[in-house]
Amino acid sequence: MSTPPDVALSVVRVSYSGRLGYRPPDCACGWGALRHGGRPARRHVYVAQRPLTWRRAPVKERSATFSWRRGTGLRGVGARDDVAAGTRPGCHNRLVTAPVRRDVVILGSTGSVGTQALDVVAANRDRFAVVGLASGGRRPELLAAQALEHGVEVLAVARASAAQDVQLALYAEATRRGWSQGNARLPRLLAGPDAPTELAGLGCDVVLNAMDGAAGLSPTLAALQAGTPLALANKESLIIGGELVTAAAAPGQLVPVDSEHSALAQALRGEDPADIARLVVTASGGPFRGRTRAELADVTPEQALAHPTWAMGPVITVNSATLMNKGLEVIEAHLLFGIDFGRIEVVVHPQSVVHSMVEFVDGSTIAQASPPDMRLPIALGLGWPQRVPGAAPPCDWTAATAWDFAPLDDEAFPAVRLARLAGARGGTAPAVLNAANEVCVEAFLTGRLGFLAIGDIVGAVLAEALAEAPAADPVPSSGEPAARQPLTVDAVLAADRWARERAGALVESGREPS
Ligand SMILES: NC(=O)c1ccc[n+]([C@@H]2O[C@H](COP(=O)([O-])OP(=O)(O)OC[C@H]3O[C@@H](n4cnc5c(N)ncnc54)[C@H](OP(=O)(O)O)[C@@H]3O)[C@@H](O)[C@H]2O)c1
Repeated sequence: MSTPPDVALSVVRVSYSGRLGYRPPDCACGWGALRHGGRPARRHVYVAQRPLTWRRAPVKERSATFSWRRGTGLRGVGARDDVAAGTRPGCHNRLVTAPVRRDVVILGSTGSVGTQALDVVAANRDRFAVVGLASGGRRPELLAAQALEHGVEVLAVARASAAQDVQLALYAEATRRGWSQGNARLPRLLAGPDAPTELAGLGCDVVLNAMDGAAGLSPTLAALQAGTPLALANKESLIIGGELVTAAAAPGQLVPVDSEHSALAQALRGEDPADIARLVVTASGGPFRGRTRAELADVTPEQALAHPTWAMGPVITVNSATLMNKGLEVIEAHLLFGIDFGRIEVVVHPQSVVHSMVEFVDGSTIAQASPPDMRLPIALGLGWPQRVPGAAPPCDWTAATAWDFAPLDDEAFPAVRLARLAGARGGTAPAVLNAANEVCVEAFLTGRLGFLAIGDIVGAVLAEALAEAPAADPVPSSGEPAARQPLTVDAVLAADRWARERAGALVESGREPS
């Protein structure tokens, strides 16, 4: 076993002036002066290091790497001016020949997306180095193994009680690797509910948020506020944070990792936003595709977890079975690309090869196709706007194949309709939808709730919030739509708490909501 390779940086200060040619004055690709050869607003300072003796500077001592253009356009890449800029002559897309290695922080490293992201990094050590990892703390051995394998500097665990387990696992892993005590360089450990947020805000080249659930909101905001590019798998943070997240993100700072939104961002590169007619988000249909509502009454968690095309964490897998995942993705697409809900379609595509499409005003449709493999959008998210060669296998065009597309069955799968309702209302409504759904999914997975009751309870809680629920939505008493009022983190968290309580009460009561 070998110790992780150290990085031998021999520079004290790096000025990027003149390295990559000129910066087009109208380029809004989001990478700022660094990639265009102009002077960055803030210099990136590295601590000098003698090869293999000094370590890289701790993450927290680093300054933000990029200067973001703030205050114009949309926040997601591939949107409006960002997209057009990505392929404009003179943009870094064409000028950069050798990729600069990026220091990456991965939140949720022990999960499905997190472990695949580490695979991407391991296969591309010339492009990416992991400097920080965060997890909930449920799998200390895996986290420790990841940390030592990648020579990580800072670890964060959300469950404070897991800190000791992680520390012990680090010693055990170091011993297993044959590291002697003097040589073992163990990472700094942050523990507690705020630890992932602290790590996200330390500053690095890119944060991948691959946590699951609403807990991702605070780290998402921390990364954006630190000026760090954010590769976002944790769609929940964008959906519940809404305008809070989009307002915190500079143009191009938010890079989608969800395969559908990565596909949309790719299809939009170089396009004029005025030419977009519709976004078409594809859905595999999940394990219960084609079933009627009556046929869904007795399905089990085991059946719901057997996704036909994707291997994912339990929450998103159940959300794929109910199609709530697609509903959340419709809201996500609206927030990322600024397209109104009436122009975002969902189409069922069982093969999961076409990951989404953009239809343009002239009748043309651009689709992004690749076999279902999250390593592709993860790699693109980490390397954006550059592609990572060999990230995932391409389609095999030598074999006869057929792709099917079908409309959504809204009666059997009402989740997309509910999500559109919440998304169009805006404000805290998406937080209510998401929180109620998380409670119901947990209850379903632990055998306390039937499959159909997930949608029923989520619908009931959402209806209650939209009708009259000052605790969930600070606005209805004024009669104004929530979206017109400024949203606050406190309001989102209050709505989240309220919806969890309401959904929990309905689950426990076992009442069928009317
Ligand atoms: N899986 C996919 O293919 C896929 C595709 C598109 C989008 N996404 C989205 O990506 C996100 C992650 O999905 P997943 O399937 O990878 O989930 P997952 O397998 O359940 O993994 C979740 C990860 O988040 C960590 N975590 C949970 N709570 C945390 C907290 N408070 N602080 C820090 N880390 C915490 C978990 O740590 P522990 O191991 O300690 O619990 C685990 O590492 C979700 O938002 C999902 O919707 C996933």
